[in-house]
Amino acid sequence: MRKILCIGAGYVGGPTMAVIAKHCPQYEVRVVDMNADRVAAWNSDQLPIYEPGLKDVIDIARGRNLFFLTDETIAEQIDWADIIFVSVNTPTKAFGLGAGRAADLQFWEKTARQILQHATSPKIIIEKSTLPVRTAEAMSHILNTNSIGVQFDVLSNPEFLAEGSAIRDLEEPDRVLIGGHNTPSGQRAIETIVELYANWVPREKIITTNLWSSELSKLVANAFLAQRISSINAISALCEKTEADVEEVAFAIGTDKRIGPHFLRASVGFGGSCFKKDILNLVYICEQQGLPEVAEYWQQVLKMNEYQGARFVANMVHSMFNSLSGKRIALFGAAFKANTSDTRESPALVVCRELLEERADVVLCDPHALENARQDLDEQAEKVNFVADPYQAAKGAHAIAILTEWAHFANLDYHQIYNSMAHPAFIFDGRNILDHQALFKLGFNVYPIGKAPLQHFNHGRTW
Ligand code: UDX
Ligand code: ADP
Repeated sequence: MRKILCIGAGYVGGPTMAVIAKHCPQYEVRVVDMNADRVAAWNSDQLPIYEPGLKDVIDIARGRNLFFLTDETIAEQIDWADIIFVSVNTPTKAFGLGAGRAADLQFWEKTARQILQHATSPKIIIEKSTLPVRTAEAMSHILNTNSIGVQFDVLSNPEFLAEGSAIRDLEEPDRVLIGGHNTPSGQRAIETIVELYANWVPREKIITTNLWSSELSKLVANAFLAQRISSINAISALCEKTEADVEEVAFAIGTDKRIGPHFLRASVGFGGSCFKKDILNLVYICEQQGLPEVAEYWQQVLKMNEYQGARFVANMVHSMFNSLSGKRIALFGAAFKANTSDTRESPALVVCRELLEERADVVLCDPHALENARQDLDEQAEKVNFVADPYQAAKGAHAIAILTEWAHFANLDYHQIYNSMAHPAFIFDGRNILDHQALFKLGFNVYPIGKAPLQHFNHGRTW
């Protein structure tokens, strides 16, 4: 029986190991995390992350061949395993050289040292967290300079799951990527992991590459996806000036097979733990390699994203007579996208913070992400009202801003909401999920993204 250990039970480690355990009953999978509360949650009915379909997978595998453990016994777990997935967080460095751009590898390094300290038999070590290109090589060097003569094969197996669809992405991935050294033992390690995934993924979808191609592909995939959003968001600004409709433009260009229809939804901006971090990382690597033009090219994707958020808030201020001070504003959505409780880098919190600067009376409403939002907002949280019910949130509000595309926000009774609001009532649809004409007919002044606003009064637009 193969013995798999995963270090880090977060958004990536938890769901990934659950799906592996589900499909590989012949393997035992143990997941350790240093956060005891998180482990307790994984072992309860209240899982620590909201992810559609996750509970069903956990119910099949937990206690059978899937176990969540605190890191008290990590020494024993490391020695027990023959395959170790490292799925710890790799945030952007907040201090020192490369601050604000390079990846903070302290968690990864700590894990590597733990492995080195406790392993007495050969292991395959798999980097699952996104890491700068050549990290695996550095880790390989650290691990293989051990004095006990234990062989470690370091592989890169980046995760391409998107939150909210993690289980589907893991069950039916577009591809699984495995990178390793072109040495006999490196190739054997790759084959072991190919076999693992082949339990449910068709072989032709399992791509093997060298270590660095695999690491770089993860950064590049996210950079390309983010670039598409920044591109359509840039065009949304132009649409608003020219009265073109960004959804019509996106549809028209997306029918070209070479462009394709996906990831062309103009929005208040992209968020999430990966896009910004990975692009910053890519930019940093380019600079380090003496490629400032390439670095600048990718930096622009982030700049456009910041512009889009700032533009959204500026539009709210200008449309609402240049002052939000003391006005109640209901923000529909805190999560960085629908179907997740994750608020990391959420554009909703960017807007929330800027509205607090404007001294607005902010009400934050979300079905699953309020607790995370409260933590992320930190001391600013005390200035925000957290209300789960959208009808309560909108009561007495001067404006509503849609910041997360939760389906139920599109299906509310806006007639009732309109009647409960202060008038004139404004609605800013940062996700283009509402029926704008219908809202306009109800009496709302409506401001979509990348389309002409629908206003009941003549109002000069200034952006
Ligand atoms: C992303 C990648 O999709 C995934 O492959 C990788 O493994 C991790 O990073 P995730 O961050 O979970 O996944 O979410 P994703 O669905 O990619 O959305 C990212 C952000 O872009 C969200 O804020 C989303 O609302 C926004 N977005 C997405 C748009 O604004 N417009 C779009 O058309 C698509
Ligand atoms: P991701 O989105 O990449 O999965 P998360 O922050 O959701 O990132 O999860 C990473 C997890 O890794 C966290 O639960 C954190 O407690 C855990 N972690 C970090 N370092 C270690 C370590 N050395 N040992 C055990 N768990 C760790």
